[in-house]
Amino acid sequence: MSSVVYPGSFNPITHGHTNIVERALSLFDHVVVAIGTSVDKDPTTYLAERMELCRAALGHLGDQITVEGFNGLLVDYVRSKNTRFVLRGLRTLTDYDYEFQMLSMNQSLDQDIEYVLLPTAHKWSFLSSSRVREIAALGGDISNFVHPAIADYYKEQAQS
Ligand code: PNS
Repeated sequence: MSSVVYPGSFNPITHGHTNIVERALSLFDHVVVAIGTSVDKDPTTYLAERMELCRAALGHLGDQITVEGFNGLLVDYVRSKNTRFVLRGLRTLTDYDYEFQMLSMNQSLDQDIEYVLLPTAHKWSFLSSSRVREIAALGGDISNFVHPAIADYYKEQAQS
């Protein structure tokens, strides 16, 4: 069975991420959605909650996907999943710079690691988790961008 690791902060998972996972399933039998922590990004939503929300958003894909958290280096985690493939979505040229830096660093750490970069569907090319969090924090409607379970989660957060 071929599998690929899709790492990210997923804070929260958006329709753009879900679309990448769905399309990757035409290339791989299984996608491991791996929630990591980035030193540069806001870690305010706890890992367990992000995992639960990812599982809700990807529930329609059944056992073709698993959702896990990981600590430490991505290359070590990828190896532990018995694959060498890493999946990422690309929205813009700015993403490309960031991805190219990350993939080059990771390939320096492990030269067998191979990246599969899928262009984000045009419809979601403007979408980012940080903008979704901002809109939600300001009381806006995020239901066009995320699974209903995630919109509900942020609504409850705003009320508590
Ligand atoms: O969706 P994001 O926030 O761009 O995801 C970033 C993530 C989690 C993929 C990245 O920070 C990562 O790979 N973290 C693991 C630690 C690691 O291996 N760092 C070295 C990367 S060059």
